[in-house]
Amino acid sequence: MAASTRPPADRPIVWVNCAVSLDGRLAFARGARARLSGPEDLDRVHRMRAESDAILIGVGTVAADDPSLRVDWARAGRPPGRPPLRVVLDARGRLPPGARILDRSAPTLVATSASGRDRLPPGVETVVAGEESIDLDRLLAALRERGVERLMVEGGARVLASVLRSRRFDRLTVYYAPVVIGGSLAPPMVAGRDTAGPEELTALKLEGVARLGAGFVATFVP
Ligand SMILES: NC(=O)c1ccc[n+]([C@@H]2O[C@H](COP(=O)([O-])OP(=O)(O)OC[C@H]3O[C@@H](n4cnc5c(N)ncnc54)[C@H](OP(=O)(O)O)[C@@H]3O)[C@@H](O)[C@H]2O)c1
Repeated sequence: MAASTRPPADRPIVWVNCAVSLDGRLAFARGARARLSGPEDLDRVHRMRAESDAILIGVGTVAADDPSLRVDWARAGRPPGRPPLRVVLDARGRLPPGARILDRSAPTLVATSASGRDRLPPGVETVVAGEESIDLDRLLAALRERGVERLMVEGGARVLASVLRSRRFDRLTVYYAPVVIGGSLAPPMVAGRDTAGPEELTALKLEGVARLGAGFVATFVP
């Protein structure tokens, strides 16, 4: 999708991106970070970040990886620009005060619930998007109102489940690294509720497949 495409009135354009093993795992056993992207894929991810107004992850990814979500402008092949807003889904206020995402190097917004807000570290900018949990539509509308036109969703498994199953996205790109992780404790690309049968499937359309470094990238639309 071209960066110039206009977003709908009630939500940003949502780009979902992740890197998985051939068996569809996001990380090693118990969520230990796997660094599945090779250099070429990291360049692609940083280009996507550079084209986004905001980047969204779940608090589970903060706990597992403590990412900074900054743009490496050299990797993106661009002169340094405005850093995208970093958005964390954290309904219960679990975000630790020392998380890198709170390092003030770029703006950060914590999406939380009315009950979770008071548990967050002081000085953190919050948006309340539900009473006990986070209503994705409410959050997307709040981000759009704030001027976010392009939102990149980077995971992890529960956030990917919410966004893909709600179909509130415009494009999914998956980098497949030519490795097998296996086992029963490595998180799958999509967690959340189980799918009982074909009537509950989330069906996507494959738009393209391209070799990238040692692996390949597949692009899907809802
Ligand atoms: N390979 C990749 O591309 C990639 C990218 C990112 C992450 N990861 C991996 O993914 C794993 C983390 O995944 P995860 O599933 O544990 O955590 P996650 O998806 O990052 O975060 C999930 C948490 O976010 C909170 N949340 C609040 N509202 C939500 C909503 N509407 N939908 C979904 N979540 C919501 C929930 O916690 P509360 O109820 O407490 O709010 C939930 O448990 C790590 O192993 C990490 O390494 C891999």
